[in-house]
Amino acid sequence: STVADFVAALPKVELHLHLVGSASLDTVLTLARRHPDGGVPTELDALRRFYTFTDFPHFLDVYRQVNLLVTAADVVTLVTELAADLAARTVRYAEVQVTPVRHRMGGVGYDDLAQALVDGRTLARERHGVELGWVFDADAILGPAGAEETVDFAVGHRPDGTVGIGLGGSELGVSRADFAPAFHRAVAAGLHSLPHAGETVGPGEIWAALTDLGAERIGHGIAAAQDPRLLEYLAAHHIPLEVCPTSNLLTGAAPSLAAHPLPALVAAGVPVTLATDDPGMFQTDLDAEYRLCHDVFGMGIPELAEIARTGARAAFCSDELRTQIL
Ligand code: HPA
Ligand code: ZN
Repeated sequence: STVADFVAALPKVELHLHLVGSASLDTVLTLARRHPDGGVPTELDALRRFYTFTDFPHFLDVYRQVNLLVTAADVVTLVTELAADLAARTVRYAEVQVTPVRHRMGGVGYDDLAQALVDGRTLARERHGVELGWVFDADAILGPAGAEETVDFAVGHRPDGTVGIGLGGSELGVSRADFAPAFHRAVAAGLHSLPHAGETVGPGEIWAALTDLGAERIGHGIAAAQDPRLLEYLAAHHIPLEVCPTSNLLTGAAPSLAAHPLPALVAAGVPVTLATDDPGMFQTDLDAEYRLCHDVFGMGIPELAEIARTGARAAFCSDELRTQIL
């Protein structure tokens, strides 16, 4: 269709994407067969079953079990495969969330991880024309100590392309505010504050991300639709939300696409960017998310183009690259 062709040719940025969750089924099988004791299925049918989520806690549980990165070479493989997938969707720039503490626990040392990210990023640019930035995210379940270790890595190693600090994992029983000291240290060192908030719980965690963590964008943030004062604040302060409809549907964060708040967020004047979150795990890609906005929410080409421009404006890329994309 005309819309599908438009989307396929549209230069895009993708600002909410997790490295491990981005691995295509083929890449997961390649890495799982390299490390067959890792607990990840090595056959396609079993992997598809493994990647079927009953609810958000189950999704997080599966995500944590996917320890595919054991060596620096695995990291380079994953980053370059991701870049090829992004290039195929005319994504020119992506900010990729990497969870260094998880990879350290899985066996990749911090020196190796930093070097592999640098090498992978260079290959992404040279082979695929895709520019990558890194967001080092803490898993909330590892508590403030895990976030401090994440900041130690981000600030201490600061591999080329380092953009910011993130916070993912559960929001239940762990307040964003608990991570304020780690985030303050990261921000003082010049990193951008890019936490998840308001994905599966109410707007209070988005307020906490803004006031306690200095959030400059919000991962998901769909709960903002429940709070008119928050919508006004996000619009007035130009705080973008990184909205991932397919992810929200498949983890149960949204009850259905028909009930998804994306149109309400856009209508309230909040800057909305579209993203995939974990395209391999959710079997989606950025073009599919744009097409979904047309098919389900009735957005036309001008609205889709505006979403792409919002993403380019919200990206922490060079102004030179931003100008090319805009
Ligand atoms: N939310 C929380 N944790 C995650 C996500 C997410 O969207 N993706 C991968 N880990
Ligand atoms: Zn996420």
